[in-house]
Amino acid sequence: MQMTSSSLLLAAVVAFAGNTVAQSCPTVWTTIASDVKTAFLSDDSNCNDDARAAIRASFHDCFPGSCDGSLILANECTDRGENAQMVGICSTLGDMASQYNVSTADMIQFGAAMGIAACSLGPKIAFKVGRIDSSTANAENQIPGRNSDAATQIAAFEAKGFTVTELVALVGAHSTAKDFNGESLDSTPEQWDTTFYTETAEESAPDSLPSDLYLSNSTQSSSIWTSMEDATTWVNAFVPAMEKMSIMGQDEASLVDCSSVITASFA
Ligand code: HEM
Ligand SMILES: *[C@@H]1O[C@H](CO)[C@@H](O)[C@H](O)[C@H]1NC(C)=O
Ligand SMILES: *[C@@H]1O[C@H](CO)[C@@H](O)[C@H](O)[C@H]1NC(C)=O
Repeated sequence: MQMTSSSLLLAAVVAFAGNTVAQSCPTVWTTIASDVKTAFLSDDSNCNDDARAAIRASFHDCFPGSCDGSLILANECTDRGENAQMVGICSTLGDMASQYNVSTADMIQFGAAMGIAACSLGPKIAFKVGRIDSSTANAENQIPGRNSDAATQIAAFEAKGFTVTELVALVGAHSTAKDFNGESLDSTPEQWDTTFYTETAEESAPDSLPSDLYLSNSTQSSSIWTSMEDATTWVNAFVPAMEKMSIMGQDEASLVDCSSVITASFA
């Protein structure tokens, strides 16, 4: 049968569309975004405790090895003391990954990106999907603790390819953190702001982690800490460091960009 020019055109459009579909963000993420946004915003439209926990869960899934969902899939969340405060969010994110048939690893990073954006002044970081899940647990004791001094934290981050500047920028996520008693690590936990750096250095925050006090007062990191008190300096350091952490151990080239889902959710 001879093809007409219109059927040739149709064939070309179908081929092109097929190619485009493979590269574009799966539409299910728009549905997930609406669910997550409802879950992560408090009544006054700021980030809530689930958002805080999700931001932290991103670090705890990625840093010990790879952003591979093992925090949830290998039960690191329930089995390790360092994750005790995240058992609830692990359950929520794991259930959503199953419900929507997306990778648990992607779901954890999506929770963090949405959690950050849900906070007042929170940046919209890039979000990509396609991470490969793993149910094999990573080696233990890789995440520095609340009493780790600056040298210990710097060594742990350097071992994973992060500079001191990236470390200091990343712990700025504590701008929105609360401790196990519910006390916040700066006076504005609903705001993604640099009050955390100022108040930690001045020791005037409602509570401070010794680990953050060490970064603020040790010679290896104190000048970097002070530089982060400038909001532009912090956001310019935080965003690329967080994006780098969110794909640890994964092949970036095989991931598909879904950043538009975050920007559309908080337009
Ligand atoms: C050396 C680096 C870090 C150390 C030692 C550290 C330590 C801690 C500790 C001990 C807590 C719990 C506070 C308490 O219960 O008293 C905490 C909470 C938190 N951390 Fe970190 N952290 C580090 C890096 C990060 C990074 C890289 C992120 C994310 C980018 C992050 C995000 C959070 C958040 C959002 C919370 C609050 C969780 C909530 O309120 O439920 N932390 N961190
Ligand atoms: C879930 O997604 C995978 C690919 O990511 C697909 O092979 C599978 O058929 C999907 N399952 C359902 C129930 O849609
Ligand atoms: C730095 O902070 C730590 C943790 O609070 C404290 O133990 C130490 O004495 C401080 N060092 C200096 C030089 O202020």
